[in-house]
Amino acid sequence: MKKGICLLAILLLLPAARPTAAEDYRPVVGQQGKDVIWVPTPEDFIEAMLDAARVTSDDYVIDLGSGDGRIVIAAARRGARALGIEYNPDLTELSRHKAETAGVADRARFVTADIFASDLGRATVITMYLLPDLNLRLRPTLLGLAPGTRVISHAFHMAEWAPDETILVADREAYLWIVPARADGVWALRDGGAPSELRIVQNFQKIEGTVRPGLPIAVGQILGDRISFRAGAASYEGRIAGDAMEGTVNDGGSKRTWSASRTGR
Ligand SMILES: C[S@@+](CC[C@H](N)C(=O)[O-])C[C@H]1O[C@@H](n2cnc3c(N)ncnc32)[C@H](O)[C@@H]1O
Repeated sequence: MKKGICLLAILLLLPAARPTAAEDYRPVVGQQGKDVIWVPTPEDFIEAMLDAARVTSDDYVIDLGSGDGRIVIAAARRGARALGIEYNPDLTELSRHKAETAGVADRARFVTADIFASDLGRATVITMYLLPDLNLRLRPTLLGLAPGTRVISHAFHMAEWAPDETILVADREAYLWIVPARADGVWALRDGGAPSELRIVQNFQKIEGTVRPGLPIAVGQILGDRISFRAGAASYEGRIAGDAMEGTVNDGGSKRTWSASRTGR
């Protein structure tokens, strides 16, 4: 009997297996955030967004205002490395706990920080569910990311920067942009004969200009580092790498290469 009482006393003295604070935390939809409230993206729509952005294990995904971490965890489940930037430390802790439980903590990282004071330079994919004015504040930073970076925003646009693709599932929308390379400026174009002056005026992913004086560019566009335009009967396609570009031109059946180097902005 004495033995039983001793055992009971020991058991009562042992610390109970308490849940951690992160496990305890229950965010409430609509709760205040720094610049925008917390409203989670539904899991099935996250998959549609990640499909549209073609997220693979080669990607580094950053979710701006990562809430309870669900987008970051879903990206990590696809093998991507992913980072959530969230201002509310309780949400960051909860996200870390959820990533551990999902077995993706080695690829899903979370920091408590302000998205407007964070370095996004490593991202190959940016996801966000913010507000139109916040998207606009972020736009210059997003346009400065490496050409080809995919930006996907749940529900909200980027004003005159028209999306390259719209994702529609039931009544929910997201928009995808491919960060365009900078093509604006004056270029020395070598296209078979003597060099000519290619002038490009860029408006996000659209370009206008002239291939030589009097020959305007038509249906010009930039998709990541890829450029395409028409001039007269010729269709140009190519890739931009800094101040150089090269590609092929199809001139009514005959195909030849072209290249250009930027001489001024
Ligand atoms: C609408 S929720 C989206 C959550 C998550 N991205 C999703 O789609 O499920 C926006 C999140 O941004 C966070 N947030 C608001 N302002 C922020 C800021 N300046 N920096 C970092 N996070 C912020 C909020 O706390 C909230 O969790």
